[in-house]
This record gives sequence, C-alpha cells and structure tokens, in this order.
Amino acid sequence: MFDFKYFTPTKVIFGKNTESKVADLIKEFGGTKVLIHYGGGSVVRSGLLQKVTDTLDAAGISYVTLGGAVPNPHLGLVYEGIELCRKENVDFLLAVGGGSAIDSAKAIGYGLANEGDVWDLYDYKKQGTASVPLGVILTIAATGSEMSDSSVITKEEGLVKRGYSSDFGRPKFAIMNPELTMTLPDYQTACGCTDIMMHTMERYFTNGGNMEITDALAEGLLRTVKANAIILRDDPKNYDARAEVMWAGSLAHNGLTGCGNDGGDWMTHKLEHELGGLYDVAHGAGLAAIWGSWARYVYKNCLSRFKKFAINVMDVEDRGTDEEIALCGIEAMEDFYRSIHMPTNLRELGVEPTEDELKLMAKKCAIGVDGEMGSARVLNEEDMLAIYRASM
Ligand code: NZQ
Ligand code: ZN
Repeated sequence: MFDFKYFTPTKVIFGKNTESKVADLIKEFGGTKVLIHYGGGSVVRSGLLQKVTDTLDAAGISYVTLGGAVPNPHLGLVYEGIELCRKENVDFLLAVGGGSAIDSAKAIGYGLANEGDVWDLYDYKKQGTASVPLGVILTIAATGSEMSDSSVITKEEGLVKRGYSSDFGRPKFAIMNPELTMTLPDYQTACGCTDIMMHTMERYFTNGGNMEITDALAEGLLRTVKANAIILRDDPKNYDARAEVMWAGSLAHNGLTGCGNDGGDWMTHKLEHELGGLYDVAHGAGLAAIWGSWARYVYKNCLSRFKKFAINVMDVEDRGTDEEIALCGIEAMEDFYRSIHMPTNLRELGVEPTEDELKLMAKKCAIGVDGEMGSARVLNEEDMLAIYRASM
C-alpha cells in the first residue's frame, strides 16, 4: 500500500430541488459578482437557467451569463470568459451543466487568477498557483468534474485536447439534483455511466500498491453503476437509479477509488482524448470504443487485477486459467457496453481514421504523456498505435 493524500473540499448538496440553495451557497463562499457559465442550451430549454437567475435576483446577487461551452470545450470561449469576467469584476464562477461547462469555468478561473496565457497550464509549461472560487449545478452524471481537480480543454488550432489538474480547481460546492439529469438523451446517460466506470477502472488496473478497502469501494461502485445503467436504459425517469449514478460519478473521480494505489493507469483516457480532439466524439463513447483493445493489449501485464475484476465485477466464474478468466471479464465488459448501446470499436463510434490519422493520434498522444505512460502496462507511441489499429 502506498501513502496517499485525499483532499475533497467540495461541499455537496444532494437531492430534489437543491438548486434553490444556490444563492445561499454563493454568499457562503463570498461571491458578490457571478459569472454563470453553461453549455449549448439544454439549461435554457429545461428552465434551469431561469430558475437560477430568478434565485440570484431574489437574493440581490448580480451576475453575467456566458453560454456556449461545447462538448470537448474550446479554448476560445475560455479566453472570452476571462475577458468578460475582468470587465465585469466577477469574483465567483457558477457552472451550470456538465463536465464541459465545468471544465471551461475552471479554465476561466485559472486564467483570471494566474499571469500569462492560461493554455500554458494545459500545455505543461507551468503550474497555476490560484483560481477563482467555483460552484457547480450539475446536470449530467459523468466526468466527476464537480469534485475533481481536473479540467480538459481543446485548443482549436491543431485540435489539441489536454487536461490540467490542480487542487485549486476543485469546486467550492456542487449542487446535485438527480431530477435535473432526467432530460438527458439516452446516449448521454450511457456515455456518462461509461465515463464513471472508466474513472474507477483507470485507478483499478494498476501495478502499484494495493489496498483492500479501495478495491472494495471500486468494485462496489462498478457493480452499482453497471446495474443502474441498465435500469436507466429501460426506465430513464427512475429517480433512485439517477441518484445512484450521480453520486457514483462524484466518488469515481474525487480520488476515493485511488487511495493506496499508484494513482492510476489513465491510458484509455489519454487515447480517447486524441479521438475527442480530432473527431469531437462524446467522451464516454470514445472510452468504450477504445477500452477493449487497450485491455487485450495490457491484461497479461496486470493479470491478477483483470482476474479479480472479471470475478468480482463481471460475475465471471472462477474456473479455468487466470488468462481465460481475465479474457472472459473483458468480453463481459464489452457485452455490457453493447447492452447500453455504447460502441466497442472505432467503426461503431462512427469514425474511420486512415492509417496516417492513426499515426498522428499516436504521435500526439505520446507527446501528451511525455513519451510513455501507464501502470497496467507502460505504453509508448508504438504501443498506442497498435491499440488504435486494434480498435478499428
Ligand atoms: O451543452 P448542453 O446544451 O448543455 O448539452 C449537453 C451536451 O450536449 C447535454 N446535456 C448535459 N446535461 C443535460 C444535457 N442535455 C439534456 N439534459 C441535461 N440535463 O449533454 C451533452 C454532453 O455534455 P458535456 O458537459 O459535454 O458532458 P460531460 O459531462 O460528459 O463532459 C465531457 C467533457 O468533460 C471532459 C471530457 O473529456 C469532455 O471534454 N472530462 C472532464 C473530466 C474532469 N474535469 O475531471 C474528466 C473526464 O475524464 C473527462 O475527460
Ligand atoms: Zn473520463
């Protein structure tokens, strides 16, 4: 078992109608002028944005709004947000939406609080030393950005998608009302469940450290999301299933399922980020499309954990060789993806890269991880290309 740091400063307000508490929370954390940041319009159509502005008006809190954070959010809007906040003397950021609006807001916060070009943080050129306080009203259970230290931004020039992680970016509060996720398209619900499971699996398939309590939490989380993803496929308005998945999303990425191990593998995410940057696919679907190829490429180097996963999460019988059991677990996971209409290869994802494009993604991915990365198995550019090829 490794030593670890666990830091989750986000105040969580969970349940029905919790969005009505937003003004009190902004005041509690010292906000006097707010940027309300949101995505492409789902919060306008659902009436949530109106409800939020009505609540702030009633509490006498002034605000400006900025919509337009797209899935795989763009750097250009981050710059726009920074400029707007400077002009309006904003001292508090409120993201209303999913990972894209939250990540874009985190980047705006870094840009406001640190000298120079905010992209330098995402380009690994320097570290931030502060941010502007951020609150979240979550509308999709997926990335865990509502409690995580991460933010992922795409630079339009060169379609470079990069993540930056810092404790300064962790939100001050997260309002989570599972009912707000009921307007999601089924595809986005399934993408979210996939991402939540992947955040746990990235930390589970490692070769460093071992802590039984962490594994038990991870396996319980995976079993819970798997079961509730099926319930939501058949009954999207099921409140309890929405709630299970929503809380799992936060726990999957606030650090809890990584305590005591070596911090995670993260290569499926890195491989997906190139797909998301280049083809603008939904993050969860991209992960599902690449995972099976990654798993078959690395499982022999992390056999005991693939076996444990097969038995404890995928209900594979403990019969046969360890390799056979591990492979059955991978197949069962892919069957699960198919059952919730997630792709298991790039064609099903709807992209058909040329050989040159596969090479470009592998090259960019290798640059993005400074040559090589991974814990289940350390991968270099050649390995990345092999996995991309296998995922065709
Ligand atoms: O943009 P709007 O109109 O709001 O529509 C969104 C978007 O089209 C829609 N949506 C969200 N809530 C809805 C809704 N539609 C109807 N009803 C609702 N209640 O769903 C679509 C996806 O939204 P988005 O915010 O893009 O999804 P998600 O939360 O999956 O975020 C994806 C982004 O987060 C990054 C991903 O790479 C991707 O860029 N990630 C961020 C992480 C983090 N910060 O910790 C970790 C993840 O691994 C991930 O990389
Ligand atoms: Zn993810």
